[in-house]
Amino acid sequence: MAAASSLYVLHSLLTRRRDSAHLSLPLKSFFFYMPSTLALATSLLILLYISSTSNLFFIHPHLAHPEIGASLNFSQSPPLKFTDFAIRDRAIREAQDRSNFRLQMGLQGNDKELFHDRDVFLSNYKEMNTSLRIYIYPHRQDDPFANVLLPVDSEPGGNYASESYFKKVLMRSHFITEDPSEADLFFLPFSIARLRHDPRVGINGIQDFIRDYVFNISHEYSYWNRSGGADHFYVACHSIGRAAMEKAEAVKFNAIQIVCSSSYYVFSYVAHKDASLPQIWPRQGDPPNLARERSKLGFFAGSINSPVREKLLQVWQNDSEISVHFGRLNTSYSEELLRSKFCLHVKGFEVNTARIGDALYYGCVPVIIANHYDLPFQDILNWRSFSVIVATLDIPFLKKILNAIRVEEYLILRNNVFKVRKQFQWNLSPVDYDAFYLVMYELWLRRSSLRVIP
Ligand SMILES: *[C@@H]1O[C@H](CO)[C@@H](O)[C@H](O)[C@H]1NC(C)=O
Ligand SMILES: *[C@@H]1O[C@H](CO)[C@@H](O)[C@H](O)[C@H]1NC(C)=O
Ligand SMILES: *[C@@H]1O[C@H](CO)[C@@H](O)[C@H](O)[C@H]1NC(C)=O
Ligand SMILES: *[C@@H]1O[C@H](CO)[C@@H](O)[C@H](O)[C@H]1NC(C)=O
Ligand SMILES: *[C@@H]1O[C@H](CO)[C@@H](O)[C@H](O)[C@H]1NC(C)=O
Ligand SMILES: *[C@@H]1O[C@H](CO)[C@@H](O)[C@H](O)[C@H]1NC(C)=O
Repeated sequence: MAAASSLYVLHSLLTRRRDSAHLSLPLKSFFFYMPSTLALATSLLILLYISSTSNLFFIHPHLAHPEIGASLNFSQSPPLKFTDFAIRDRAIREAQDRSNFRLQMGLQGNDKELFHDRDVFLSNYKEMNTSLRIYIYPHRQDDPFANVLLPVDSEPGGNYASESYFKKVLMRSHFITEDPSEADLFFLPFSIARLRHDPRVGINGIQDFIRDYVFNISHEYSYWNRSGGADHFYVACHSIGRAAMEKAEAVKFNAIQIVCSSSYYVFSYVAHKDASLPQIWPRQGDPPNLARERSKLGFFAGSINSPVREKLLQVWQNDSEISVHFGRLNTSYSEELLRSKFCLHVKGFEVNTARIGDALYYGCVPVIIANHYDLPFQDILNWRSFSVIVATLDIPFLKKILNAIRVEEYLILRNNVFKVRKQFQWNLSPVDYDAFYLVMYELWLRRSSLRVIP
């Protein structure tokens, strides 16, 4: 294209010269212009030559996209220098991209924007709902480890409730089959949270217990050996689970791990094979005043147990718009979530906390500051439509980024927060598209990566 336009310029210059010659100007004047015309033409020819052999003049459309551009190898160009200005400019540019994207999506005016592709999701979901079959290794009520292997009697509660909810709901669901030959997946029903509190096991005994458990089922049944555990899965929310498979490496490397500690940095987590379980502090019903005025820009409360939180404290501790609390809160936590526009989820010792679930429940738009967190249900949900994701490096520009979100755009985000609350809700009797069903969907996506026909 550049070559063609250079040719056009050259051609029109030459024709104009010829036209001007036709104006019966004195010949002297023609010769006066001749050298400069030749010089210009030569320069243009040189440019033409360069542009046809180098890509210096082409702006490749895909290079306009920073992520893709960054993955290309610019071995000939000097290394990029990321000064503070460059970081700030990038943060602002990315915020603008997100903003335009959300405004575009918001115009659709339904729940389409919550999903990457709602139609594909809905038709897959139907198929999943009718075809997926799970076999659970059976354990009797009088098993000495019934407390660990069978579902809890009471309604699950607390920070790690997701683990117990999932098992309890799964065991009563229509996905269960008694016939292992028709199972797509096999469930290892141990509870990491319960092992941790069992005095016979404790934190230090979890690894041995898992090793023995897998030894037992692989000798008693034939299913484990068929695939080395690849069609098996377990579910765990406590971060202690990160180390639980150290003496059962086949579980770590082959089985599907549905865990709350889903960071690319966690040595036991294998992205794509494993999936993220949302950590949700279970609450029923709606909080009062969900639609109240939100006067505060941002809110965070928690302990300082990571460099990311240290940075947050260092930059924002005295700010009047973003309130960052470390240690005890004087006010009520739910009040703070209800009165803030944005609620920060900041990586601590772990990437996962119940804060995303808390923010959504109280109608506050979550801001995720946790690099490389494999976000829950991200195979299904379009996180950009109901949250703001900020790189750790951009903590100093947090206020700029949040203030750059226009009112109409914020309303779209918040509207989507209200819609997506359903997906972050556990129900003892599962409701379509709730947390239980979405975990099943994540499993379904991973079901057939390996299927052994005996
Ligand atoms: C980038 O190019 C340099 C120089 O040609 C080469 O040494 C390097 O391996 C390349 N890196 C990648 C990721 O291709
Ligand atoms: C999924 O299956 C359950 C149980 O059969 C049923 O109640 C529910 O309506 C199904 N959902 C969809 C979307 O088909
Ligand atoms: C494994 O089986 C042995 C023998 O039946 C039993 O004593 C032990 O408790 C089992 N361990 C686990 C973790 O299931
Ligand atoms: C499974 O493999 C292990 C190790 O190779 C073996 O000891 C065990 O007997 C096998 N299980 C069955 C049910 O054949
Ligand atoms: C915040 O205020 C405290 C107490 O006035 C002060 O010691 C600290 O340096 C301030 N921090 C920042 C980042 O301004
Ligand atoms: C919390 O209460 C203590 C003591 O009453 C007070 O010194 C402190 O300023 C309060 N903090 C906030 C954030 O209101």
